[in-house]
Amino acid sequence: MTTILPTPDTAGRVPIGYPGATDVDFTDLAPLMARKLLNNVGDPYVDGASPGHTKAAERQVVEIIADLVRAGDDRWGYVTTGATEGNLWALREARRRHPTGIVCYTTAAHYSVPKAIDLLAMPSVVVAADDRGEMDYTDLRRRLTKHPGRPALVVATAGTTMTEAVDDLYQINAVLDDIGVPARYVHVDAALAGIPLALLEPDQRPGFDLADSIVVSGHKFLGTPFPCGVLVTSAAAPTQAPVSYIGSPDTTITGSRNGHAPLILRSALQRHGLSGLRTRAEHARELAAHTLTQLTEIRWPAWRHPHAFTVVLDRPPPPAVAARWSIPTENRRSHIVCMPGLTQHDLDRFVNDLRNATRRQRRPIPRPRTAIGYRTGNP
Ligand SMILES: Cc1ncc(COP(=O)(O)O)c(C=O)c1O
Repeated sequence: MTTILPTPDTAGRVPIGYPGATDVDFTDLAPLMARKLLNNVGDPYVDGASPGHTKAAERQVVEIIADLVRAGDDRWGYVTTGATEGNLWALREARRRHPTGIVCYTTAAHYSVPKAIDLLAMPSVVVAADDRGEMDYTDLRRRLTKHPGRPALVVATAGTTMTEAVDDLYQINAVLDDIGVPARYVHVDAALAGIPLALLEPDQRPGFDLADSIVVSGHKFLGTPFPCGVLVTSAAAPTQAPVSYIGSPDTTITGSRNGHAPLILRSALQRHGLSGLRTRAEHARELAAHTLTQLTEIRWPAWRHPHAFTVVLDRPPPPAVAARWSIPTENRRSHIVCMPGLTQHDLDRFVNDLRNATRRQRRPIPRPRTAIGYRTGNP
């Protein structure tokens, strides 16, 4: 993915194709940079030998996200470098619990999922996704029945990268029940959509949070100024003896861990409060709905999933427009992501740019002049 610049370019255009919120100003936390090293090495629930850490804040962040995703009393988690690390942690944990398990993920899953499978050298099957990016549950059944007696290690996605589709855990669990898998581990990659979906009213909320583990990114909806994420599991803390050098169990993927990230995440969560976060999510959805209407008016083929910030463009914009607004394309499909921080004005300007580019493309091409009337060849 290309670099995301939160500031407009010289023509006032802002990137709208990648999901980083830009509405939060963290400069009040600049004094944190003047402090000594903050390193949360080891398990967040065991402070360990080194005093320069922010594990109390890390535990608060994990608790807030765990409450949002309705984790039970047995819960654990930590602040990661991003959703990618959370996916790796979850697959490693799935294998630890069910060593003979087979990983299932869809063609719409983020590229970090097959990468983690490759790193861990785990057996896997790729399940089809439907045209809008959601898991094809019939295909899940078909694939798993070819591996009878093997535990199913499913990576579902809540908010796929290109279309923000949400895999339905009720349907996944129904398939696993029906074919009688001997054991299961279900992880949800909820990098972008986890927090916004969790803020919906219970009767509107899709079935995405009844899992063994879930990960959200911090730099997407919460807009932290550097990449980070939060992994939450619905199980007690992994039991491991402390590593004597650090005085804390080595339960995370990386060793040294960013101690500033929990402070910034906690601030992002607390400065808005749940109702402020909900308002931001609702506003982003309104922007997406408005933009979809505008696109429909100019007859650009576009659609969005319910609750999504993402508006999918079934025809990619002309390359110049895509480059101007940082819009990605994959398999002949593009999208824009209406994140907090964008304004209706920004998005209207994009639609206008698209309209103008289309008009230019439709303008009749002047007929080539023939050689008649012109001198050609050598004088
Ligand atoms: C569904 C999904 N999972 C994982 C990731 C990677 O997240 P991170 O950048 O936090 O590692 C992304 C990023 O776009 C994503 O869309």
